[in-house]
Amino acid sequence: MKRLEGKRILVTGAASGIGQSTALRLLDEGAAVVAADVATEGLDATRAHADEAKSAERLTTIRMDVANEDSVVDGVSLAAETLGGLDSLVNAAGILRAWHTHQTTLEQWNQIIAVNLTGTFLVVREALPALLANSRSSIVNFSSTSASFAHPYMAAYAASKGGIQAFTHSLALEYAKEGLRAACVAPGSIKSGITDATGGYLPKDADWSLFPRLMPILPATTESSGAGMAEPNAVAGVIAMLVSDDGAWITGTEIRMDGGTHA
Ligand SMILES: NC(=O)c1ccc[n+]([C@@H]2O[C@H](COP(=O)([O-])OP(=O)(O)OC[C@H]3O[C@@H](n4cnc5c(N)ncnc54)[C@H](O)[C@@H]3O)[C@@H](O)[C@H]2O)c1
Repeated sequence: MKRLEGKRILVTGAASGIGQSTALRLLDEGAAVVAADVATEGLDATRAHADEAKSAERLTTIRMDVANEDSVVDGVSLAAETLGGLDSLVNAAGILRAWHTHQTTLEQWNQIIAVNLTGTFLVVREALPALLANSRSSIVNFSSTSASFAHPYMAAYAASKGGIQAFTHSLALEYAKEGLRAACVAPGSIKSGITDATGGYLPKDADWSLFPRLMPILPATTESSGAGMAEPNAVAGVIAMLVSDDGAWITGTEIRMDGGTHA
């Protein structure tokens, strides 16, 4: 029997990168998955991969903007209805932008916070009733190594990810007696839409001498923006473990996957 057979899981940010790889891994391990994202073309690609893997009959894709309250209310309700309940939630949707902090506008700051932090809150809030209807359930939120270690020009992003970590710890305690586990993954240097675009986001006068602090020590499996990276499935497998019974004693913590950058 596969580890996640019978599990009903909502994955946000599932049109690209780590969220897409996670949705496919959860399907491979037997789960029924609702893959949600704003990017409908990317969701079509997720479906095409699931078709190839012969797991598409357990996949539903829905358009959901995590930064929009109405969209989240409708999307989570549709996901729970489609799956007949929810055992786990994986909140991978996120954006990265980079600026000098002294040049960051309030609009730019609010955009990062709205998608990453408020988006995570909204999806969790709407999913909690369905999750808590089970004796055991789990949430995996996406922090980042930038929440705990210095990343230049990414202060707004780092603040949003630090907020997600603190939010997740609170959830872990508040709902532990109801069987809910809540943990964060903190990836670093994973090839994805975000990291492919990072070079383009950085200020033109970025000081490159600040970046050697962000390099993995493990041999990289791929290249992105000129830097060594791992494939998204390096994170997807850990998420599959976290939502499975193998993660039964893990809550209120982060698992860092950065190829040893911050060893
Ligand atoms: N790649 C890394 O090295 C790394 C490191 C640390 C944290 N993360 C986090 O991993 C998560 C996944 O990102 P990724 O690296 O796979 O990048 P990605 O760009 O490939 O995937 C992010 C996905 O989120 C979706 N998204 C963006 N805004 C959305 C919204 N408002 N509503 C719904 N979906 C939305 C995008 O369409 C995209 O499909 C993010 O939370 C990111 O911050 C990634």
